[in-house]
Amino acid sequence: MENTVIDTEKINIQSTSDIFNEPLFEKFIKDFQEFNLIYNCAIKEVYTKLEVLSEEFQIKRQRNPIEYMKTRVKSVHSAVEKVQRKGFEMSLASIKKNLHDMAGIRVVCSYVNDIYAIADMLTNQTDIKLLEKKDYIKNPKPNGYRSLHLIVEVPVFFSDHSELVKVEVQIRTIAMDFWASLEHKLHYKSNLAKSSLNIKNELKECADIISHTDMKMQSIHEMVEKLEDDTELKKIKI
Ligand code: GTP
Ligand code: MG
Repeated sequence: MENTVIDTEKINIQSTSDIFNEPLFEKFIKDFQEFNLIYNCAIKEVYTKLEVLSEEFQIKRQRNPIEYMKTRVKSVHSAVEKVQRKGFEMSLASIKKNLHDMAGIRVVCSYVNDIYAIADMLTNQTDIKLLEKKDYIKNPKPNGYRSLHLIVEVPVFFSDHSELVKVEVQIRTIAMDFWASLEHKLHYKSNLAKSSLNIKNELKECADIISHTDMKMQSIHEMVEKLEDDTELKKIKI
């Protein structure tokens, strides 16, 4: 299954869109569906691990650090487009080797500190291997994008074999997610937005304001927790 290769010499592709009409591509699509299963299962494993961590956190600290999670397996169109764009061979083996974001989980947290707590708790697990960490919170992208990106590898067990599967985990606050979603939509809607310096500056300013608000919310949260702890202590003394 993994060795399905689209022979671009034989089918004479002029552009990425041509390939979707080729008969040879039908087999590739079918194999791709089987291939998808592996990524869906890897997502389920990491998702469950995150749910367990969140529920434990809830019991120990009386609050849920994860507001919500979203998952997706990259579509065949996006995967083919990406291996082509990056100049890799067009095969399932090549997609598996070269694309680290076939399986994706976005974790949206309440506070900035929760992001690092969740990331550490996940990557400290013995069956999870951290392959890559990009901290766009400590080092935001020039456009203002903030998020913590992890590429982890997780073993997935099937009836007759097991596989190590890569999953991209993006962890960010509600505010960071709000900015990234709208910024993505604005660029998707209009390519002009990408070239307008004024729009770039406005978006960067929004990202910085949002980051400042995140820091403030974090410190307000710490103040509230301290107040609660002090009240509990007083009750014990009484
Ligand atoms: P590719 O995986 O090839 O895109 O490159 P990379 O691995 O260097 O990407 P990176 O880890 O920086 O980002 C991966 C994903 O993060 C993207 O597919 C987006 O979902 C998200 N992302 C990164 N930068 C931005 C950004 O500026 N704006 C938004 N909205 N999302 C971003
Ligand atoms: Mg990537």
